[in-house]
Amino acid sequence: MGKIKILNSEVAQKIAAGEVVERPVSVVKELVENSLDAGATDIRVEVIEGGKKLIKVEDNGWGLSEEDIALCFERHATSKISQVEDLEKIATLGFRGEALASIDSVSRLLLKTSEGAGGFKVEREGGKLIRISEGAYPRGTSVEVRDLFFNLPVRQKFLRSAQSELTLIARYLTTVCLAFPEISFSLHHGKRQLLHCPSVTTRRERFYQLFGRQALERLIDLAWQEGDYQVSGFVSRPPLGHPDRQRQFFYVNRRPVKDRTLAAAVQQAVKGRLEKDTFPEVYLFLTLPYEEVDVNVHPTKAEVRFRDSLRVFQIILSSLKEAMEKEAGAKPVYFGGSEAGPGGEKTEGAAISRARSGEERLIPFSWKRVAEDAEGSRDLLSLSREQEPFDEKEIRELREEKSFQILGQYLNLYLIVADKNGLLIIDQHNAHERVLYERYLEIERRQAWASRQALFPLILELSPAEMTGLEEIKPEVEAMGFEIESLGGRSLLVRCFPDFLEAEEARRVLLGFIEAQAVAQAKPTRNELLATMACRTAIKAGAALSREKIEALVAAFFQTEDPWLCPHGRPTALRLNRSEIEKELKRPSN
Ligand SMILES: Nc1ncnc2c1ncn2[C@@H]1O[C@H](COP(=O)(O)OP(=O)(O)OP(=O)(O)O)[C@@H](O)[C@H]1O
Ligand SMILES: [Mg+2]
Repeated sequence: MGKIKILNSEVAQKIAAGEVVERPVSVVKELVENSLDAGATDIRVEVIEGGKKLIKVEDNGWGLSEEDIALCFERHATSKISQVEDLEKIATLGFRGEALASIDSVSRLLLKTSEGAGGFKVEREGGKLIRISEGAYPRGTSVEVRDLFFNLPVRQKFLRSAQSELTLIARYLTTVCLAFPEISFSLHHGKRQLLHCPSVTTRRERFYQLFGRQALERLIDLAWQEGDYQVSGFVSRPPLGHPDRQRQFFYVNRRPVKDRTLAAAVQQAVKGRLEKDTFPEVYLFLTLPYEEVDVNVHPTKAEVRFRDSLRVFQIILSSLKEAMEKEAGAKPVYFGGSEAGPGGEKTEGAAISRARSGEERLIPFSWKRVAEDAEGSRDLLSLSREQEPFDEKEIRELREEKSFQILGQYLNLYLIVADKNGLLIIDQHNAHERVLYERYLEIERRQAWASRQALFPLILELSPAEMTGLEEIKPEVEAMGFEIESLGGRSLLVRCFPDFLEAEEARRVLLGFIEAQAVAQAKPTRNELLATMACRTAIKAGAALSREKIEALVAAFFQTEDPWLCPHGRPTALRLNRSEIEKELKRPSN
């Protein structure tokens, strides 16, 4: 007997819905896109419990007619395209005719709409029509989606806390809001207004509404035209970068996208222009003819495919380079981090290029081989202890007898140490992270956080998404000695912070927490926050260190309980055994 059956339509519908609707933010995205496609100039979003209970999107667009409301919940029902050729040049955000059908099948939905006079109300539940009635509504459409996944408990289980879902929604709205400055957006969570952006005429003004003045001052404008390709937006003003990649936004014909070509072009353009360990902040808008880009390649339309991605890469590269060079009035400069000596001579970039050109071949080939071995065993390192560069006895000797000699710093990245077994190459940043992490763990264990008051007001300007993200972890952050107060809007006053931090470090740590919260699948644990604090306060890769600092760091590093891995699981040190050196150099060992 055959084993294959055609699924009944209810199951099939839910599977299809799963492609489009993963969580509340997917619903917000689809509804807002529909409002934009309907020519709205004012879009109001309201959510309750992070959208799990209610998502409501109201617009003043052209509304739906009586015929349309009978069709709009059907699968493949769309007003936006009609034939295959239309797929080649899609100008609207939606085109598949799937979003409303999908949302409808997994929620209780209420749609009110009017084309200007009169109007209709449609009530539906789990994909089925309950009732349609006539009513008088203002021109536009409002869609209320209640009890998302009420009939799909597996999906419900995967939802995060209301605060996390809200953060995702705020982040999405921030993204789309930037692309449409002429449109008013607002976001309400229950009674609280989280985002309020009345219509403005320029992208600069919109950016200011979202991120504030400080953020704007860190950026320069992009403006580039080549044939019918156009690039605009903002990028970091060199040498100031952002501590993480959270502020990279890409748009293709105003559609927010994730795209490797664009990200790679940006990375290449800023190479050597930004401070060490920082990333470009970029808001990049690429406009090109609709037929040059395929937007139908991803289930939630988050990715696109370019007809000529090489051309796109080169145009982005040129546009960024031109903007940055105009700004610097010079060619790329290499930065060696905050502690680099004057003259820039000792910076990492210069050192690397010297090493590459062969001038500085102090270190022979076997070094490379060992490094490669270590690379290969990276995964093992985090799983087993077999690959540890030291065994217990060695580390005890290093700790107690201080039987080592510091040879110096290499490339402003590594500390080279000799002991009786050979050489150790210690990653200065990872090692310092380990030292600090254990120190913070100890403070946490003893509950000995002490805070101090900021001498000067320390003000953070955050985007709405960052604001809600921070709120989620506020109790943990406060337990560590931070005292934060909202100044209304997107400004925060940091009144107090842990007493061992400088104000600038406190700022970096808080931004680090927000990032950790944003990228984590679940709310970050206390230990993850401590690891983040260690990462943001550790000596940077690329920083030139004084002899005293190196000595203190190496001594503290050998004192740590678990020296071989940094708190993020990366190796901290490599070992090159004396026997290997002797073997490679064909020197008989004695
Ligand atoms: N807010 C709205 N205002 C006016 N018309 C709307 C609105 N929302 C939906 N519609 C109409 O309902 C149709 C179906 O919407 P739906 O989102 O399901 O599909 P789509 O936007 O055409 O494609 P996609 O599935 O890619 O989003 C749309 O084509 C549009 O005609
Ligand atoms: Mg749509």
